[in-house]
Formats: sequence, C-alpha cells, structure tokens
Amino acid sequence: MTPRKIIIAGNWKMNLNVQQSSLLLQHLQEHIKIQRLVEVVLAPSLLALQPLSLQLDRRRFRLAAQNAFYKDEGAYTGEVSFAMLRELVHYVIVGHSERRFYFHETPEVVRDKVAAAVRNGITPILCIGETKREHEAHETKQVLHDQLTTAISNLTSEEIESIVIAYEPVWAISSGRDFAHHEVARPDEVARAARFIRHDIAELYGQIAADKVRVIYGGSSNAENAYAYLSTEGIDGLLPGGASLQYMEFAGMVSAAERVQQAKIKELSKTNGRTT
Ligand code: PGA
Repeated sequence: MTPRKIIIAGNWKMNLNVQQSSLLLQHLQEHIKIQRLVEVVLAPSLLALQPLSLQLDRRRFRLAAQNAFYKDEGAYTGEVSFAMLRELVHYVIVGHSERRFYFHETPEVVRDKVAAAVRNGITPILCIGETKREHEAHETKQVLHDQLTTAISNLTSEEIESIVIAYEPVWAISSGRDFAHHEVARPDEVARAARFIRHDIAELYGQIAADKVRVIYGGSSNAENAYAYLSTEGIDGLLPGGASLQYMEFAGMVSAAERVQQAKIKELSKTNGRTT
C-alpha cells in the first residue's frame, strides 16, 4: 500500500495580471525542484492559463482553472467551458465559498460543474465547508454531508475515487473584507471534517472510494502551519490562497509536504514489514 499523493494547490484568485503571473511562476520555478512525492498545482486567472502553460516546467507543476461553465458550448456570453480548458488544465476548483457567496452558485450548479469537469477529463477540486454561523451551531457534519452528496451525485464510485475534496471552513478563509475576522481551524477540527467526508463517501459509494479519494484542507494555510495540517489524520494536501501568491511561502509549503510524505512512507514501510 502506498500513501495517497499529497497535493499543494495554489489558488491565486483574482490577483496578478499576465505579466505578474509569469513573474511569480518564474520565481516558483527557481525555488521548487522536481517533486517525486508531491503534486504541485497552480491556479492562476483564466487569462494567464495559456501563457503559463507555455512557460511552466510540466515535470514540476500542473495547472488548475479557478472556474468554468458546465455547458460545453453555446450562447452563454462571457463564459468559458470545461471543454475549452481540457487541453490546458489537469484540475479545476469547483464550489469555492467565494463563488457560492458572490456569484450565487447553488449546490445544483456545483453538481453540474463537477460532472462537466469529469466528463471533460478534468479533475475537480471540490470545495465544501461550513460558515461561521453553521460552525457555531454545530451544523458542520450536516452541511458537509449536504454539500458533498449533492455535488457528487452524478458521479460513479470510480469517478469519485479520483476527485479531490477540499474542506474549506468559510470562517477560516482569509478572503478579505467581506470575510474579515477569520479564525484559524485547529488540526483536530480539520481531522474531524475529513472523517465526516470519508464516512459519507464510504456509506454511499463504498470503502474503496473513501480510501482512495484525496481530502485536502484550505483556510489560512501557510509555510508555518503546513506541516501540522499535512500531518493531520486523513488530510492529503492544502489549498492555500494568500500564501500561494508569495513564492517563499508556497515553496515552504511544498517542502513541508515532501517531509510529511517521506515520514508517511517510512511509517508505512515499517507497518508493511510488521504485517509480512
Ligand atoms: P486563504 O484562502 O489561504 O487565503 O485563506 C484559502 C482559499 O480560499 O482556498
């Protein structure tokens, strides 16, 4: 048995023009070496995807889109489809709380986007998470269940195995003014959420899908707390926003991921040794 591959995915959100994006990538390429154990993903703005795809070292980085529309083509002014992105990106972020909040994306829209991504061979990074009010009312388990089951309801168990689910408590995201006064999620809260997610998947789609699916964490993650979150039971990666815009922070997160993965492999080989 091998551990699930850790993924560090930087969500640049609506920051950096094409030139600034290219400069950030240049810095990242100088500071992040080829990773055997960690998958490093960058989600720049839609506009920067094409130029960055020509500039990036594919052995080190993969690209993600931050959004796309669920129809493949047609009269949908202003939208870009998953079909248009399929040659360009490996991943797409779907269901981010900023899209649910500012762009009124309903659970059904999120579900259709997840299905459209999979249909077009793009792996969704599905974001789910409770608001501060829901957190304080102890509704986390129910909220995660509802968001998750609706979002993946059009997928098969095999398709679910390969997606990435990001637990993103809205109250812990440093999204700026409208989400001001964010707090920090403790690793034990993150571990608990990961358990809820895997439990739901096991119940509905079987233990194999639950064991294979990657569950990652997002919300004020940075180079300093990356090791703690990545060592958390059931967590296979991070989705940083703010920290992904600073190359030293992001590179620090990647190197924390590498150290955690090495430790996991060592631990697993000891266990395997004991059982054979
Ligand atoms: P943050 O954003 O790391 O700036 O809190 C995380 C996210 O929104 O995915």
